[in-house]
Amino acid sequence: MSTTPKVPETPGAERLPVSLPRLAEMKRLGEPIVMVTAYDYPSAQVAEAAGVDIVLVGDSGGMTVLGYPSTVPVSLDEMLMLAAAVRRGLRTPLLVGDLPFGSYEASDEQAIATAQRFVKEAGCDAVKLEGGGQSVSRAHAIARAGIPVMGHVGLTPQTATALGGYKAQGRTAERAVEVARDAAALELAGCFSIVFEAIPAAVSETLMPDLEVPVIGIGAGPATDGQVLVFHDLLGIYDGLSPRFAKRYANIRQEMVAGVRAFADEVRGGRFPAPEHTYSIDPDELGELRARLGGFGHGSGGVYDLLS
Ligand code: KIV
Repeated sequence: MSTTPKVPETPGAERLPVSLPRLAEMKRLGEPIVMVTAYDYPSAQVAEAAGVDIVLVGDSGGMTVLGYPSTVPVSLDEMLMLAAAVRRGLRTPLLVGDLPFGSYEASDEQAIATAQRFVKEAGCDAVKLEGGGQSVSRAHAIARAGIPVMGHVGLTPQTATALGGYKAQGRTAERAVEVARDAAALELAGCFSIVFEAIPAAVSETLMPDLEVPVIGIGAGPATDGQVLVFHDLLGIYDGLSPRFAKRYANIRQEMVAGVRAFADEVRGGRFPAPEHTYSIDPDELGELRARLGGFGHGSGGVYDLLS
């Protein structure tokens, strides 16, 4: 690390931390809610400076920053480390930690204990879990333990295999009813917000009037109260496959490769470092150093003489 970490930039010093009542108010006023994922200190600083409302430390980080082939392998300890780094770079957005696969399904007690670790050890404001079914009971338990919890329905990547792969969900009336049922159950269980992932826009539009909590969509059309994208998808950092809803707003990976390649070219061509990248020493001190080494470039043992 060559520089001291700076206090995160803020879009306006007056910006207040985003609270749950503020999110509810945004829904009521029809103000779109902006959520992005982040997985480390610099991405959190970027989210802060851009003025987003919610930052999710998604288990997608298992793929985008840890290189796993899916979100399933990422461990709780890995997620806590990512979330704690994000916390250090964030001031105003609501920080949500994603409960990874295997860390909450077994029992309500396990779900509460895991959610507590996100709050106590990583400084998260809230947690997110995937799915309906038994996740409804887990969400209820977490909410009753005093930890705000976000639901996630439609395509739930932790259980994608059971859903038939990474496919849009709710594309038949029957399957759309399942999505609706899960969303309603999560709302009643006490979730403060729900993510809709990869469901037809018309299905979201149909369900939205019935839901009281803010719904954040990803691949769920424009009717939801807010939108979320994965940081590495939206900035073009990740080289893996991106889903169709992952609009790319920048191509940072190309810039990064070009930068590192330019560095390599300059090192190999002897053009870096230049004098302005080096430190100086008083000539007398340098003379003494060289004398003690037996002369510049001609010492008998050079630095090794200093050991005897
Ligand atoms: O892990 C993640 O990034 C997510 C978002 C896609 C909502 O769950």
